Amino acid sequence: MLQIEVLENMKSRLCDKPIVIDDWRKDETYEGIYPKGTRDKSAYFSPEAVDEKYLKGNYRYLFKLSRSKFPWQFWGEIIAYRLGLITGIEVPPAHIGLNNEYNPGEATYGALIEWFYDDKKDTYIEGGQIMEGIIKDYDRQKGTQHNFLSIPHFVKNSTGYWAGVFTLDCLIGNTDRHQDNWGLILKDAKTKKSKQGFVLFSPAFDNGTALGYEILEENIDKYKDEKLFEKYLTNPRHARHHMKWSLDQLDVINFYEFMKKFVLEFKDSKDIICKHLRFERSQVEEVMNPLVSAVTDNTYSLTQKRLHFIMELIFKRKKLLEKALGI
Ligand SMILES: Nc1ncnc2c1ncn2[C@@H]1O[C@H](COP(=O)(O)OP(=O)(O)OP(=O)(O)O)[C@@H](O)[C@H]1O
Ligand SMILES: [Mg+2]
Repeated sequence: MLQIEVLENMKSRLCDKPIVIDDWRKDETYEGIYPKGTRDKSAYFSPEAVDEKYLKGNYRYLFKLSRSKFPWQFWGEIIAYRLGLITGIEVPPAHIGLNNEYNPGEATYGALIEWFYDDKKDTYIEGGQIMEGIIKDYDRQKGTQHNFLSIPHFVKNSTGYWAGVFTLDCLIGNTDRHQDNWGLILKDAKTKKSKQGFVLFSPAFDNGTALGYEILEENIDKYKDEKLFEKYLTNPRHARHHMKWSLDQLDVINFYEFMKKFVLEFKDSKDIICKHLRFERSQVEEVMNPLVSAVTDNTYSLTQKRLHFIMELIFKRKKLLEKALGI
């Protein structure tokens, strides 16, 4: 159960209204570095002086749009950040971004996501580079060889990191934690002699392929059918982590079967997962509800109906996970 002061402290890190970035300086280098990806995005620098506690001054932020078919998709990044604060799982701060210059004269909303390392000092290594180094002929396009047991566990608190990321992905139903949606940060590698730096995992970024984003508003009610809902939440064909458990795994397993394997193999992970799951619906609602009235534009708004559906998804998944792990 979260304490009131923790919840209040958390709220100071949230912004319940759109942050207008029309005057932010565009980072012209970004698209050259990261032209790939499934969603349009560009990077901007925040102004030098920012008063708000939830923003960093003169700092890089990613403005990440939704897929055009699903203009509400960006809410997933913001909801995942808020859930990260509640569960104690590190997710890059994600706010509501509004850009009237992206398509001039048109309001474009997206997720405004804080950069998670300092590229003047740190070196970032994508998980894909690590997998390629470990598995011969690793196919980075398809990622079919992406699997947990092959990932080396030399980084401190590796079990704790994956326990957090897997828990978050399970709760939000993220099916896209592929090899380039996690990575390592070599802290201070560019400024100090390598021995003085240290290695960290990236926070859990890229959380938008989740939370039922692909379900159109008019189809949400269909999931009142318990059987259909249960199937959506458990069918291993789609309700599963992107990574397999092991390279030689033949069968497809759903989120919860994967988590069972994880806690069985890494005994200390169960307590960590338990701690992350110590939250209640009222706390999540308190933090998420203000998002409904934050954007009035019908194309982009988060409707009460969708938020309610998202809450059902999160809490049903939480129950399924607790049941699978015997918590
Ligand atoms: N907050 C961040 N801080 C630093 N780098 C980031 C951040 N968010 C994204 N990136 C970098 O930009 C790349 C693309 O971003 P992201 O994965 O969010 O987008 P995407 O288009 O959804 O990608 P995908 O191909 O996985 O669908 C990431 O692989 C990562 O290297
Ligand atoms: Mg990605």
